Parts: sequence; structure tokens; C-alpha cells
Amino acid sequence: MKILLTGGTGYIGSHCALALLQAGHSVTLLDNLSNSDAAVVSRIRQLYQPQSAEAAELSFIQGDIRDEVLLERLLSTQRYDAVMHFAGLKAVGESWLQPADYYQHNFNGTLLLASLMQKHQLPCLLFSSSATVYAASATALDEQSPCAPASPYGRSKYFVEAMLKDLQQANPAFSVILLRYFNPAGAHHSALLGEAPCGTPNNLLPFVAEVASGQRDEIQVFGDDYPTADGTGVRDYIHVEDVAQGHVLALQQHQAEPGVHLYNLGRGQGYSVLQVIQAFEQSCGRVLPYRITTRRPGDLPSTVACADKAQQLLGFTARRDLQQMTDDAWRWQQQLQQRPVVQPQLSPITDKATTGQDGVKHEPC
Ligand code: NAD
Ligand code: WQD
Repeated sequence: MKILLTGGTGYIGSHCALALLQAGHSVTLLDNLSNSDAAVVSRIRQLYQPQSAEAAELSFIQGDIRDEVLLERLLSTQRYDAVMHFAGLKAVGESWLQPADYYQHNFNGTLLLASLMQKHQLPCLLFSSSATVYAASATALDEQSPCAPASPYGRSKYFVEAMLKDLQQANPAFSVILLRYFNPAGAHHSALLGEAPCGTPNNLLPFVAEVASGQRDEIQVFGDDYPTADGTGVRDYIHVEDVAQGHVLALQQHQAEPGVHLYNLGRGQGYSVLQVIQAFEQSCGRVLPYRITTRRPGDLPSTVACADKAQQLLGFTARRDLQQMTDDAWRWQQQLQQRPVVQPQLSPITDKATTGQDGVKHEPC
């Protein structure tokens, strides 16, 4: 297949791009680089070693999903078999401060993309949704669990899901795949791809990684009075390479199957904040300082997936455990600090595809 992958130089998009290439699918990355680095393109290229001249192709376009002229031109000139849509904003705290930005990028951006896909009769859209759409629950969350997103970010995801279901109903030939990720974590085992948050990390694992590398003094544990085994928050962490594998399986299964296909991507196993810190200590080989602070507003005690549906219908199993997530996160963190920032030569906007010094084909916008 030939896949357009928005947000393709981001954390999850880059791992999915590599997994798609390795599965034999050609990938065009579209990203405005607002939260990622163009050097990611050459690292994907480095990891993908085509075995034959017939191999899948990788190309990159720097652009914004809200740019109608760009999207119109792209979708009218290229024939994609599917769009995997990762581009968007994702910080819950920031979404309270800048809700309009979240609705602009996440909702309006997706509406424009999906509308143009339908205009040009592209058959399939896979959307990055989130466990954050669910209401709090003391038991594992399955796809039928009630939704009650508690932040503008979560609501932007929930509204997009609803909108895509409406578009699908009006266009029964359309395939919509909604994947609700729980807590993606870790990095590619090569340490060439991973998460590089700007400023203070919002999520637990990148924060712990920065304490382990000496960039920060101590971890703040947000509350130890939750009704969990050790009192700290419990989450269902899933290795980002497993997340990527889930995308490939979902796409291969449903690309040509009209309808709405909804899956959780989790492991079905919860770990507390203290368990994550302990696993990271094993990975980096030293004791990590932490301090118990007050609860973070809006946090739930425990969020764990029921992962049965993806296992039964897609044959998906998240194979990598918490220790592998922290091992890979630590390896990535060390590389991140050593690596000089190298920008590949991006071609200017032209009418012809060119190949940059990074060896990657850059398509015209
Ligand atoms: P990320 O920020 O690393 O990747 C998103 C990419 O989209 C970035 O490269 C950014 O530059 C790009 N982008 C943002 N707005 C854009 C726009 N308007 N046009 C073009 N490109 C744009 O985030 P991620 O962790 O890889 O998340 C990818 C998707 O998965 C997001 O939609 C996010 O909401 C969703 N998600 C992430 C998590 C998580 O914990 N990481 C969990 C559930 C869902
Ligand atoms: C995990 C646990 C914190 C940081 C968020 C989004 C969600 C999804 C995944 C995109 C919690 C605790 C954290 C720290 C801590 N993203 N913690 N100290 O909150 O489950 O989910 O990321 O869709 O939408 O809300 O993940 O990594 O922030 O927190 O004690 O410095 O770690 O309280 O229990 P969360 P997280």
C-alpha cells in the first residue's frame, strides 16, 4: 500500500512509518515540524534497509494539515491507499490554556483532511485516538466503556471520533480505524527514534529519564494516597514499537473493509508510578531520587485497558514489558544527549521530487 502519514516525524508517527516500511508499504510523511525534527526522516531511512529494488519508498513533505491548498494538491495528484493521521497537539495541561489551538489542530485539521479524503475517494483513515476519552473506571476499560473526556485535549479526540463516525455513515464505502492508545512509552530499540519533548516533559517516563540523566534533580510523584496497591497512580504502559505494530495490523485488516473499527491499544496490565521508577532504576543502574507531592489535578487513580478485542480480531499482542520500555527509554535518553543536532538538507518547495543529502526523496508541496 501507499500511505500518507501525518505527524510522521513525531514520536509515534516515526515508529509507525518504520513499521509500515518494514511491512512493505510506501510512506509519505507530512509534518509541520512544530514538535519534531526533520532529522527523524534520515533516522527512519537509516533503520529501514530495503532488500530489493522493488522496496517500499519513503518521502517527506513539510506542511500543515490545516493547509487546504497543500492537502488538495497532494490528494488530487497522489493515489494513497490510506491516511494514518497522527498530526496534532497532545498536552493535556496546555489544552486548558489554549483550547482553541487544540480544536484548530485536532478537530478542524482532521475535518479538513477527512473531507478532502472523501472528495478524492480515498478509502481509509486511521486516527490516533486516546484512552483519555474514557470516563474514570475502577475496572479495565474496553471499547464499550463509557466516555467522558475530562480536558479540552480529550474532548478534541472524542469529538473527532464522533465526527468521523458521522462521515463514515454518510459515505458507507469509507473505512475509519480508531485506535485508542493507553500510555505509549519507551523508544526504538536502536535508540535512533524516540520522544524528545520540548521543555518540561508532561509524561512520567520522559521526566524520569531526565532525572536519570542528571538533567533534573528529582522526580515528583503526584500523590501516594490513591486507592492502588502502593497509593500511586496506575497506568497501562505500552511500548511504542508495539503501538506501531498494532497500527500495521489494524491497517492491513481493515484498509479495504468499510465501516468504523475501534480498538484499544494497551497491554491490559497496570503499573504504578513507583514501579516505573524501580524499573528505570534497573535500566540506568542507580537509585533515582523522588519526592511525593500532591495529586496532579485531573489525574485518575488507575487507567488500564481491556486489550482483548485487538488480540482476538487483529492478532495483536504487546510483547515488550515494562523493563524493555525503561531499558529502551534509557538508551534513547543517553543517545539524545550525545547526538549533535544534524538537519538534513530539505529541498525547497518545487514542482519536482528531489532527493536530499539525507538520501530521502522530498516531494513537492
Ligand atoms: P508528537 O507531538 O511527537 O507527534 C505529533 C506530530 O504532529 C509532531 O511531529 C508535530 O510536529 C506534528 N504536528 C502537529 N500539528 C500539526 C499540524 N497542524 N500539521 C502537521 N503536523 C503537525 O506526538 P505523539 O506522541 O507522536 O502523538 C501522535 C498522536 O497520537 C497525537 O495525535 C496524539 O494525540 C496521539 N496520542 C498520543 C499519546 C501519547 O502518549 N504519546 C497517547 C494517545 C494518543
Ligand atoms: C502517568 C502517571 C501521573 C508525571 C497522559 C495524557 C493521556 C495520554 C497519555 C495522549 C500518573 C504520574 C506523571 C510526573 C507523576 N496522552 N506522574 N510525576 O496522565 O496517564 O496520560 O499521557 O493522549 O491523554 O493525559 O500519563 O505519563 O502524564 O502520568 O507522578 O512527573 O504518572 O500522576 O499517575 P497520563 P502521564
